[in-house]
Amino acid sequence: TLFPLLAVVAGYLIGSLSFAVIISRLMGLSDPRSYGSGNPGATNVLRSGNKKAAILTLLFDALKGYLPVLAVLLWGGSLGLGEGTAALVGLAAFLGHLWPVFFKFEGGKGVATAAGVLLAINPLLGGATLLTWLIIAYFSRYSSLAAIVSALFAPFYQMLIWGAGPVVLTVGVMGLLLVWRHEANIKKLLNGTESKLGQKAGAAV
Ligand code: G3P
Repeated sequence: TLFPLLAVVAGYLIGSLSFAVIISRLMGLSDPRSYGSGNPGATNVLRSGNKKAAILTLLFDALKGYLPVLAVLLWGGSLGLGEGTAALVGLAAFLGHLWPVFFKFEGGKGVATAAGVLLAINPLLGGATLLTWLIIAYFSRYSSLAAIVSALFAPFYQMLIWGAGPVVLTVGVMGLLLVWRHEANIKKLLNGTESKLGQKAGAAV
C-alpha cells in the first residue's frame, strides 16, 4: 500500500520546519544562520544570548522527530505500519531537518530531532543517548562533541537492548549522517577553536 510512503513524506515535511529560524523570526531575533556557527539549531540560537528562544528551538526540533514516530507507533498498526516504518519516518523527519524543503534545503545538524526520534522509538534508547550527551556536555562543555559521541553510541544501545534489526540500521544511518554534518565542528574541536556552551556569538564563520 501507499501508507508507508505517505508516512515517510509527511515525516520529511514536518522535519523540514526549521524551528531555529521560525522561532527566531517570531520572537523578532536575528536569523541564526547569520551569526555564530551559522547553524539553524538550538546550540547556535543559545549564542544569541536568548535562552528562551534556544529552549523553544530545542523543544520544537525534538518534537518534530518525536511526534511523527509516536503517531506511527500508536496508530500505524491498523494501516500495516510497524516499528521499522516508524523508525524510517523518524529518519525522514531527521533528513527534513538537514535538508528542509521550505528553507532551500539548507538545514541543521539534526541533534534535537534525532533525540526526539530516539525517545519515541523507545524511551530507554532515547534516555541512554540523552544521558550520554549530558555527561559529555557537562564535562567537556562542547555541545557538538556530546552530540557526535552520543550519535555513535545510539545504535549500540539499540543493539544491546533489542538485538540487531532494521531499527539498528536506521539509528546507525542517522548517527553517521549526524557526525558527517558536524564536519566543521570536528575540525574546530581538533584545532581548539570550537566554542563552548554558553559562549556568546561573533559574526557567522
Ligand atoms: O546542535 C548542533 C550542535 O551539535 C553543534 O551546533 O552551532 O555549535 O555548530 P553548532
